[in-house]
Amino acid sequence: MTMAKTNHIKSHDEFARTYDSQAKQYNSYVFEVLFGMCYEFVKPGESLLDLGIGTGLSSVHFARAGLDITGLDESIEMLKECGKKGFAKEIKQFNIRDVPLPYPDNTFSHVVCCGVFHFFADLLPTCKEACRILRPAGILAFTIASLTVEEAGSDRGSMPGYIKAPTAWGIPIFKHSDKYVNKIAATYGLTIQKEQKVLADSGDKDAGDILFKVIVMQKTVS
Ligand SMILES: C[S@@+](CC[C@H](N)C(=O)[O-])C[C@H]1O[C@@H](n2cnc3c(N)ncnc32)[C@H](O)[C@@H]1O
Repeated sequence: MTMAKTNHIKSHDEFARTYDSQAKQYNSYVFEVLFGMCYEFVKPGESLLDLGIGTGLSSVHFARAGLDITGLDESIEMLKECGKKGFAKEIKQFNIRDVPLPYPDNTFSHVVCCGVFHFFADLLPTCKEACRILRPAGILAFTIASLTVEEAGSDRGSMPGYIKAPTAWGIPIFKHSDKYVNKIAATYGLTIQKEQKVLADSGDKDAGDILFKVIVMQKTVS
């Protein structure tokens, strides 16, 4: 059965051609922060899977650093824009919530997922899969929309550890707690190496900025 595309995928299809220029217009460079935080862990010749590769704004930097890039994305229009740049070894249309991901265990040196997890409530199935296909000592780096201390409120210590929040552009996002991120690491044998909070322009003067967090985890060598 073909599932109807979720709203945020339709929206990415519609904005694919102007996505890169909009990122510049909104001074949105979280993907470069993620690359910088991963740089010390990557080497030329290694492989990297980009989950929700989009137009390739984050993984193009890894390609320039000499890594072989594979990308998955549900939006065919975003993939077309990415394909035009010609840096990725393979890009494929795939809903990364449809687990299992289409790769054997220990396939990739590293896995990144930038600007995607705020569209998902439950991150555990995708993180479990990312960890399965990641080689020991590899990096799993991703972004979340982060709960502020005020938003976490009484939920701070409890699960599920996320809230659904409206946005200025009409598509709700999910904001995750630190506790939830710690649970991902503990559940799948990952060590949190780095975390960095980043403010991103919401695109609405009245709504203010959205707090994101870039997280770099490393798969334990067993
Ligand atoms: C905000 S863009 C980020 C793109 C890119 N990672 C970057 O850093 O610029 C989010 C991307 O995630 C993709 N995406 C969202 N949900 C997805 C899903 N369930 N499966 C695959 N791709 C998804 C969208 O199509 C879009 O290309």
